[in-house]
Amino acid sequence: MPPSPATAEPFSLDLHGGAVFGLYAQERPDVDTWPWGDLPAPPQAEALALCRWWTDMALQEYAAAAAQAEVARLALRAGAPLDLTALVSLFPFDELVHTELCVRVANGCGGAVDLRFDREAVLGRLRATTDAPAADLAHAAMAQLCVAEGVTSEHVRARHAAAGAPLLREIWGRMARDEARHARGGWLLLEWASAHLDDEERAAVTATGRRALDMARGAASAVAALSEDVFSTWSVFGSGGHPSYAAEARAAQRAVAARLDRWARGDLDQGDV
Ligand SMILES: [Fe+2]
Ligand SMILES: [Fe+2]
Repeated sequence: MPPSPATAEPFSLDLHGGAVFGLYAQERPDVDTWPWGDLPAPPQAEALALCRWWTDMALQEYAAAAAQAEVARLALRAGAPLDLTALVSLFPFDELVHTELCVRVANGCGGAVDLRFDREAVLGRLRATTDAPAADLAHAAMAQLCVAEGVTSEHVRARHAAAGAPLLREIWGRMARDEARHARGGWLLLEWASAHLDDEERAAVTATGRRALDMARGAASAVAALSEDVFSTWSVFGSGGHPSYAAEARAAQRAVAARLDRWARGDLDQGDV
């Protein structure tokens, strides 16, 4: 959904720097050792496209940080076990690191693009809480982690498998590891929440998962409408072109749908996730 002109603001992120950056960097120590000098200097037209889509992905990662912070809050509110809640509370940090990685690639490929967004619509679009904390947690975990992160993790895994440049291998490898953990955390949250859901709530959470999968299908359709030149070695969509990306998206959706079906039948336990 395009941002409304009245509320749109440029998407740009600052670093505070100094001691703050030093403390942050200690929490993701490997990133600064990566070969950032590998960033390509592509032809101008290609650089603009790369910059555009890496910036777009930075915004998606930033939005994921907000959504997953909300999942962590809901886990606390629902009284989820401490180890499970602590695990999930790490996820927003990962997403902010991913945001940094995307911004660094975008900047390296030619600098900022004027991407506008509606902060409230993108970052405040979270499910209102009800008087059923476990169900609220289950809805959020299903949509944000099990489905959204599940589909994303399959895409970034494919990017990582195909990455040739050492820097790309580091970036996609970090994301693939983290997104898979986020999706797994979602299913573990649902496994815990299941005991607190009645049949009606379970059916509603399943429906939330199916709607989230429809959104993932919509996102894949949007990529299908892009021109072929968005695919390249450094592209967030990979270099395989439309048929390859569409097959990858379908496989990701099928994998998540199969898991969702099993959860809906009560046939998914900790050993499976
Ligand atoms: Fe991410
Ligand atoms: Fe993630």
